[in-house]
Amino acid sequence: MKRALVFDSGVGGLSVADAMAGLALTIDYAADNAWLPYGAKSDAELRTRCPALIAALAAQLSPDVIVVACNTASTIALDAVRAAVPQPVVGVVPPIKPAAAMTGSGVIGLLATPATVRRAYTDDLIARFAADAHVVRFGSTALVAAAEAKLAGGAPDAGAVAEAIAGLFLAPRGEEIDVVALACTHFPLLAEELRTAAPRKVAWLDSGAAIARRVAEVSGCGAGSVQAARAVFTGPLTAALQRNAFERRGFSHFAQAPEGTAFTLSSA
Ligand code: DGL
Repeated sequence: MKRALVFDSGVGGLSVADAMAGLALTIDYAADNAWLPYGAKSDAELRTRCPALIAALAAQLSPDVIVVACNTASTIALDAVRAAVPQPVVGVVPPIKPAAAMTGSGVIGLLATPATVRRAYTDDLIARFAADAHVVRFGSTALVAAAEAKLAGGAPDAGAVAEAIAGLFLAPRGEEIDVVALACTHFPLLAEELRTAAPRKVAWLDSGAAIARRVAEVSGCGAGSVQAARAVFTGPLTAALQRNAFERRGFSHFAQAPEGTAFTLSSA
């Protein structure tokens, strides 16, 4: 069976792994939780960290395809990651294009990390695919923490959800939003909370299905069911580390890959 390495700063990539459930693939997952949240890191830091870490993990796990299941990393470091590894690399693109195709009102909400909302990559996507639309952007790091808390088995911070909803729908022209593009892989994990807190019914789009299609194309894997294998963390495994969320998805081997040992894997 072909092997994929799914990478994110934390649990966000699990929303992408969930979308890949119908593929005949073995998945190893790596979370750079020592550096979470990526949305608060500088572009330069991520362009150095992500290729070095992903190349070290890929050399040890030998995937057939690497999935950078993190918008914050993909929008700044994808070319650098591709240059650092021999495997094909699939990145996440904020779903601006499908949101622009879907909006009837011409007003799209964009919910991402603070880093992703201000990226030139995002400006370029909007200019190319949503030039006729008005995009209301809101960046949240608190929502990343809320998703981590939810997957750790706790209650997600309702304040973070309310703040994000207000940031979109109470912004100028926010009352016209009919589609929200979720451009952080942590946020589909809070889809239910976001839908419930929204002032009315709108469409919520994420990139999970598009990535799964691309992974199938690139890896040549067929349809089937995903086999979850190893979950790797750069930081300590603590209760807040959502081990249960990984076990529920079938991950059975846990490993650590700390920076201090050049990201060498050891069982956890
Ligand atoms: N899951 C990541 C993304 O898609 C980022 C979360 C973080 O800030 O670390 O952008």
